[in-house]
Amino acid sequence: MPRPIKKAVFPVGGMGTRFLPATKATPKEMLTVVDKPLIQYAVEEARAAGIEEFIFVTGRGKTAIEDHFDHSAELEALLAERGQTDLEALGMLRLPPGAVAYTRQQEPLGLGHAVWCARHLVGDEPFAVLLADELVLAETPCLAQLVTLYERVGGCVFALADVPREQTQRYGIVDIARDDGQIIEIKGMVEKPRPEQAPSTASIIGRYILQPAVFAELDRKERGIGGEIQLTDSLARLLGAMPFHGLRFTGQRFDCGSKLGFLKATLAYAMKRPELRDELSAYLNDLTRAL
Ligand code: G1P
Repeated sequence: MPRPIKKAVFPVGGMGTRFLPATKATPKEMLTVVDKPLIQYAVEEARAAGIEEFIFVTGRGKTAIEDHFDHSAELEALLAERGQTDLEALGMLRLPPGAVAYTRQQEPLGLGHAVWCARHLVGDEPFAVLLADELVLAETPCLAQLVTLYERVGGCVFALADVPREQTQRYGIVDIARDDGQIIEIKGMVEKPRPEQAPSTASIIGRYILQPAVFAELDRKERGIGGEIQLTDSLARLLGAMPFHGLRFTGQRFDCGSKLGFLKATLAYAMKRPELRDELSAYLNDLTRAL
């Protein structure tokens, strides 16, 4: 049985330029789908997969994230006065003191660099990485699906989704050794390849289970595409040293870093809420008829 995954890293230092002007003074991870910020969905997904320690790699202008996960004595007192003591029922997350850590990336050198910044907090154990701008709506949360596979195969495990070939330049793309339709054995990976050079169309979406050996590779600080230190490049150097698997997870994935993806997520998540569904779907019908 491989070592359990107890820690998750959330790289939240990015500038969110694809979502300006909303992200000028608000971290993109604090953008709200229905009534919860994106980062809370990611933390809840991690918690549902058994994660106990939450490590955020932040940057300038991201203090709203720290405030969001802090206890708010004033707010809780006010809610208690009104008889609202069931905070979870209000959708509020309470993480135990000491379970949350923050470190700053300081320089925007890419996803690999962000993960490397968490090395001392992660230490010598396997860990998860979740990118909060990818939302996955699924009955079994996406990371829990990866953990189930990981417990069987060990090594590194990624969530994969097939993308149209013309979009390979936006993602890390894997080279497939074996594919049973759901589980992929990975023999290579390349960050943001041009469509004609992409080894497949199976793209890494923002959920990973990684081994601590990746930190030694990230330590080399080699720059990849876009001049950034790419996580994919360091992982590719570990191929052969341990198993690498991808999972075509069950669920619907939304790229909430893009405006259209974010809007779709808002509608899909709202339609899952019994108190919103009927009126919203009637409104959407009216709206499409009026167009
Ligand atoms: C990052 C990763 C890429 C992955 C993508 C998923 O890219 O480098 O391999 O496919 O996240 O969202 P970014 O979106 O930071 O450019």
